[in-house]
Amino acid sequence: MRTVFWQDGKVKMIDQRLLPGEEVIAEFATVAEVARSINEMYVRGAPAIGATAAYGMALAAYLSDADDSAALLDELRQAKETLDAARPTAVNLAWATRRLYTLAEEIAGEAASGQSSTYELKQALLAEAEALADEDVRINRRMGFNGAAVVPDGANLLHHCNTGSLATVDFGTALGVIYACQEQGKDIHVWVDETRPRLQGARLTAWELMRAEVPMHLIADNAAGHLMRTGQVDVVVFGADRVAANGDVANKIGTYKVAVVARENGIPVYCVAPTSTVDLELPDGDHIPIEERGAEEVAEIGARPIAPVDVPVYNPAFDITPHRYLTGIVTEEGICYPPFDQSLRRAVEKGRAAILAERSERG
Ligand code: MRU
Repeated sequence: MRTVFWQDGKVKMIDQRLLPGEEVIAEFATVAEVARSINEMYVRGAPAIGATAAYGMALAAYLSDADDSAALLDELRQAKETLDAARPTAVNLAWATRRLYTLAEEIAGEAASGQSSTYELKQALLAEAEALADEDVRINRRMGFNGAAVVPDGANLLHHCNTGSLATVDFGTALGVIYACQEQGKDIHVWVDETRPRLQGARLTAWELMRAEVPMHLIADNAAGHLMRTGQVDVVVFGADRVAANGDVANKIGTYKVAVVARENGIPVYCVAPTSTVDLELPDGDHIPIEERGAEEVAEIGARPIAPVDVPVYNPAFDITPHRYLTGIVTEEGICYPPFDQSLRRAVEKGRAAILAERSERG
């Protein structure tokens, strides 16, 4: 089943806050509600929130009473602002809303010349959101098999956060590499970082890998350094919420520490991210906005306090791994190696061309 999908005029998704205990499908029927689903992390993971935001834009069009395309465009602009504000670090969100808004502008331009109607515009936006979701799955599979090429048979991998089916529409990014290795019949084992404070590793990655019957062990985040120093890790893989033009990577808090210790121990480090996660407009990681989340994520576990009441907390949700710690960045267009500013630009250009080619094939 897909992590997020459109059904009966609603955006539906697995409520990831409840996993692994309960598997519940939550439904959202307004743009504000869809933005809330992203902000409150019913859905999370950069590609999954991109697809959710795309459906949010389609929902804005679907619900609109506007009878001319200029008025509909105004509503879409407001919807885009609402959705973009839901979470700041993952660029896939604004990438997806921009993609749908730009398409709407193009179609509205045709409407002005009498060639199309608001009905066609609404239909086209839903079709584009569905295409984006389908494309995410295809891209993840390609990326997974690109990345599997650097994982030797018999490897022990270390993985941070959740980057699997749940973090995307399906299949995943860094976990997609692991699923591709499994499909190829490689004998692999995964060390799963628990990923405090929200425990995406313990709650979501462990759940996914156990269902897929991939050999794994859950570890406390603090165990990763010990495993790397004692030769028990061959490859480190993680995803990204945004990759700057120079290859600096924003990902779940704790990624930087993992990458530095891996480098210290001569272990290859691969970031696995689609070209939609690459933000060529930002020169380096210092320009990437880092989301801060609520104190309760650190001071409580499952609503149970683990620190004194009213303890002051600082809770950055992401960190930046400078590109010098990365061996490569795996994308759907191949593996980018240093100098990343050049290899990433080439991959992004190929990715954009593929989207346009696919859209013109759809007609
Ligand atoms: O706060 P989250 O759970 O949305 O953070 C997710 C991550 O950091 C993932 O590693 C990233 O989005 C890549 S997932 C394909």
